[in-house]
Amino acid sequence: MSSWKGLLHAYDELLPLTEDTPKLSLNEGNTPLIGLENLSEQWGAEIYVKTEGTNPTGSFKDRGMVMAVAKAKEEGSKAVICASTGNTSASAAAYAARAGLRCIVVIPEGKIALGKLAQAVMYGAEVFEIQGNFDHALEIVRSISEKENITLVNSVNPYRIEGQKTSAFEICDALGDAPDVLSIPVGNAGNITAYWKGFKEYHESKGTALPQMRGFEAEGAAAIVQNRVIDYPETVATAIRIGNPASWSSAVEAAEESNGSIRYVTDDEILNAYQLLAQKEGIFAEPASCASIAGLKKQLESGEIAQGTKVVCVLTGNGLKDPSTAIDTVTVKPTVIPNSEEAFLEKIKGGAAG
Ligand code: F0G
Repeated sequence: MSSWKGLLHAYDELLPLTEDTPKLSLNEGNTPLIGLENLSEQWGAEIYVKTEGTNPTGSFKDRGMVMAVAKAKEEGSKAVICASTGNTSASAAAYAARAGLRCIVVIPEGKIALGKLAQAVMYGAEVFEIQGNFDHALEIVRSISEKENITLVNSVNPYRIEGQKTSAFEICDALGDAPDVLSIPVGNAGNITAYWKGFKEYHESKGTALPQMRGFEAEGAAAIVQNRVIDYPETVATAIRIGNPASWSSAVEAAEESNGSIRYVTDDEILNAYQLLAQKEGIFAEPASCASIAGLKKQLESGEIAQGTKVVCVLTGNGLKDPSTAIDTVTVKPTVIPNSEEAFLEKIKGGAAG
């Protein structure tokens, strides 16, 4: 669709826009829904992935951020602030730059994937590393935004949810209806809330079906599953290293209303899915994203999801954001060769490099 101009153009009637809302855009949205040919056959289900890593800053956050920053600008705000495990800060920084607003981000020290940090600094955000985790950072920025004239652009900002719900619209449009199951990673729980809102709105206005919402937390950060705040969340999937999700109750509501569930997957399951997706399908998504694939695999194996089910897994972020985890995970490293064609040919003929 060459005339695509981003979400505020495409969904102007389905988003809370006014005549004064600036038509901010980095051409976000309209992301590919890709059928997983190999894994569908292997696992016995009809599996698609919504590749949100193809958004302008490489994650689903752009859908919510275009809306939140446009509204901040409309309301006369001069600055936006967020806490982030990385992707929110990258997205906020990009849209704030585009809109000419100041951007302040607070991230947990040492727990941000390298690509995400590179983005925030490149887009010109003022970056602060807190000696604490995401939950602490969110508490601080929430409090500051209540006292100062600075707009909070975490997913507790309702405009974020509005923007992010558009992915559900796109899935229904691409498939001609909702899938049976929507599988999605859960961190702060804004995205599962947004998808459920989107599916319900399309159900009301277009008569599409309602999918079961199946959310997946990381085992070491499974607050909702364990029904308790996790003081020191830990997981390789740093994007969802969150122990006290802000949209906790609406996530539970989405799971209950849709006859779905929220469960956890282990780091090993996440890393296994991460490699399978790349090596069997040619799709590189960041570890947190692969919680949706890991959860699906687990529930197909246990029978919780029946064979033949039509499932969309949300791949929330691009694999390139976190090169260190990729290099650490895969045991096969580039093979060093002498500067000689013959020696190289020898190696190739010997079988797989490495
Ligand atoms: N996947 C990725 C790649 C994320 O960056 C996040 C959240 C999630 C999944 C979970 O989404 O919070 O709506 O349940 N990242 C936030 C951030 C917290 O700061 O970038 P959620």
